[in-house]
Amino acid sequence: MSTLEWIEDYNVGIPAIDNEHRLLVSLINDINRTIDTHKEFQTQIIGDSLKTLEQCVRNHFASEERFLLFNNYPEYDTHKTEHTLLLEQLEHFEKKFLAEKPDFTENMLLYLKDWLVRHIILHDCKFSSYFRDEELIDHFG
Ligand SMILES: [Fe+2]
Ligand SMILES: [Fe+2]
Repeated sequence: MSTLEWIEDYNVGIPAIDNEHRLLVSLINDINRTIDTHKEFQTQIIGDSLKTLEQCVRNHFASEERFLLFNNYPEYDTHKTEHTLLLEQLEHFEKKFLAEKPDFTENMLLYLKDWLVRHIILHDCKFSSYFRDEELIDHFG
């Protein structure tokens, strides 16, 4: 399966947040590579990778929420709710993987890529354009 390439549209224009998003993309690509290469220890490696991904997603959401709260983002509550939902989906995804290891298919990986990119494009880019419109971006760039 093809790797998830970083494209310009994923940039929110706030370097600290973009770097964290890039890290999440690279973790998903690690899982992608594992599926392609490590047939023998796949379950163990992917299980560990999903745990790492979950921890990094938690840290990222927490730091993004601190940033939004600190800057009085008007849609903070909606964004935080969306994060909570995404974490629930990731936990569900992990449980599903642990229960159905052999059936960990490329479709599930496709789901994971979509899960991350959709949030960045639909929600994170929304706060970035808000701060840009408010001309606050210079303070964070
Ligand atoms: Fe977010
Ligand atoms: Fe984000």
